[in-house]
Amino acid sequence: MGITVVGSLNYDLVTYTDRIPGPGETFRANRFETHAGGKGLNQTIATARMRDDDYNYPVRMVGNVGDDSFGEQLIKILRDNDVDVSQVGSLPGVETGVATIIVEEKEGQNRIIITAGANGKTTFTNEQLNRIFPEISGQEKEVVVFQQEIPNPASVVHWLHENRSSHEIVFNPSPFQPLDEKDWELIDVLVVNEIEALQIVKTIYDEEQIKYYEERIAGDFVKGYEMICQEFQKNLVNQRKSAIVIITLGSKGALFCSKNHLKVGYVPAAKVKSVVDTTGAGDTFLGSIVTQLYQNQPLESAMTFSTKASSLAIQKRGAAESIPRFNDVLFSLQVKEKH
Ligand code: RIB
Ligand code: NA
Repeated sequence: MGITVVGSLNYDLVTYTDRIPGPGETFRANRFETHAGGKGLNQTIATARMRDDDYNYPVRMVGNVGDDSFGEQLIKILRDNDVDVSQVGSLPGVETGVATIIVEEKEGQNRIIITAGANGKTTFTNEQLNRIFPEISGQEKEVVVFQQEIPNPASVVHWLHENRSSHEIVFNPSPFQPLDEKDWELIDVLVVNEIEALQIVKTIYDEEQIKYYEERIAGDFVKGYEMICQEFQKNLVNQRKSAIVIITLGSKGALFCSKNHLKVGYVPAAKVKSVVDTTGAGDTFLGSIVTQLYQNQPLESAMTFSTKASSLAIQKRGAAESIPRFNDVLFSLQVKEKH
């Protein structure tokens, strides 16, 4: 049935610089570029590009742009990547979402400020949801992916939970906003980075537990997050299906666990020669893991594949444009095996 991403589309205005000026200071940057972005759009393009040619399932995006040239360009880029854009609206009198991004060239680190524009108006009536998510038969499945650059994505998750039965929910709570405690239970695949994982800990546990986890992380970074990963799998996310929790740790690799793999697994980060621009690395990982799981790949090899995919994305400038294709990742994994 396919994969649907519900979320944001941004026009990224990116300045590449050696350093960030202080307050009141003017500093000459190296370069300015515009790129397609927004966590929703990036994850959609990652999903579309990471599809194995042997599986020809549809990838759709649900979201909104404004009725301006930025919006037109973003829709065109989605189309060029074989994405179904029939549910991407163009809202009259509203501006397309924009992200102002500063990339420090030495390490490729980014700082991002987003202006919601049409993303801020991306809410749904029940009637719209009924149209966007038609009933599908129990044999089929639709994977629906969410981030948090639109208002209240959890309300769509609720609606799906109450009105549909063949949908799997992938949730990437980025940028972090707390969810109601019972909302976490509706998630089948939770993907967070190290910062978001701690933010979740801080919203659901008491002072003593928070301190406990912080001390564990300070003592042994990866071990500390392993404990959190396991805790989320056991007590936070959906207990009915074999829910999966993934915590990405940037250059320190990534952790995963599921009902079938209660022992937390670890994959190291793929080595890269030089980091050019980390923007979109998390979104690339997410799109890749979603397609790998959809294509029934075992979790561990899906993690290795996705870690490789994001290591390719950080070696190129831009968000959406830096996302590799399935065959690029495959090739790169094979080259590694030969050495
Ligand atoms: O995750 C990267 C994205 O965050 C950028 O493309 C920017 O638009 C912001 O949404
Ligand atoms: Na990039």
